[in-house]
Amino acid sequence: MKVEMMRILANHKIAEDTYELILEGDIARLIKEPGQFVHLKLNDDALPLRRPISISSYHQNTMTLLYKVVGKGTLALSKLTIGDDVDVLGPLGNGFKLGPWLKNKKVLIVGAGIGIAPLYQLAKELQAYDVDLDISLSFQHKNAAYYVKEFQELGTVYISSDDGSVGFKGYASDLLKTLGKNYDLVYSCGPKVVLSFVQSYYEKTSEIYLSLEERMGCGIGACYACDTKDKTKRICKDGPVFNGKEVLI
Ligand SMILES: Cc1cc2nc3c(=O)[nH]c(=O)nc-3n(C[C@H](O)[C@H](O)[C@H](O)COP(=O)(O)OP(=O)(O)OC[C@H]3O[C@@H](n4cnc5c(N)ncnc54)[C@H](O)[C@@H]3O)c2cc1C
Ligand code: FES
Repeated sequence: MKVEMMRILANHKIAEDTYELILEGDIARLIKEPGQFVHLKLNDDALPLRRPISISSYHQNTMTLLYKVVGKGTLALSKLTIGDDVDVLGPLGNGFKLGPWLKNKKVLIVGAGIGIAPLYQLAKELQAYDVDLDISLSFQHKNAAYYVKEFQELGTVYISSDDGSVGFKGYASDLLKTLGKNYDLVYSCGPKVVLSFVQSYYEKTSEIYLSLEERMGCGIGACYACDTKDKTKRICKDGPVFNGKEVLI
């Protein structure tokens, strides 16, 4: 983990309120696994706290972040342009577990909204294990959909939207009910309601990994702002990815 001024190679809109930011610098080489995150400091005295954003993908000395503009920090980020520097702390946290036990397994990735972002590098790295990969992506509506083609290159993609403007009409839970429970492993990131559904619906699946989100302070385990529901773990340091059999959402 280090703090670095990373150079912006690209920062452009890819869907409604959603941006792809490509950063260059040494932090990218320190990333251990998909699902880790970075903490960004914006050059604005009115925004003293860093903002946590997942690493969506990485390659050599670059990394890509996908973010949704929801408030002042992410809005300020969206105004930065190619050649600007961003103050980055990272890589932080523990990501999705991968290993030889995955060989030839039937795997499901479940992403919803901006929670789809960290699942992209995971889907890429799963290719090395010859898994049979299904990918469930849920969006509010068509204009909010992103990275569909990218995921289609990596597995069989199923899409839902709340209003039916793209894919199956319904919520992530409705889509998952059509896919069924026949998976060896499930990885998920998205709103709490989706993670809770995944945890209970795939209760009998042998392994589940869930990426949790919470408002953060320090991002490095020092301030206890990001406790899990049972107060036994810190999301920034022990997560954000947890064993779905153990964590309370
Ligand atoms: C580990 C982790 C990884 C994340 N990865 C991504 C990512 O890849 N892409 C992305 O777009 N966002 C991600 N987030 C959420 C992101 O950190 C917040 O959206 C961002 O900090 C909001 O900053 P802001 O100044 O724009 O909004 P603020 O003005 O601080 O808040 C605006 C609104 O967003 C809500 N909000 C703020 N922070 C969070 C949060 N951490 N979780 C849920 N709601 C929040 C607030 O309650 C408020 O309603 C992640 C959060 C965590 C903890
Ligand atoms: S944000 Fe400080 S302990 Fe997690």
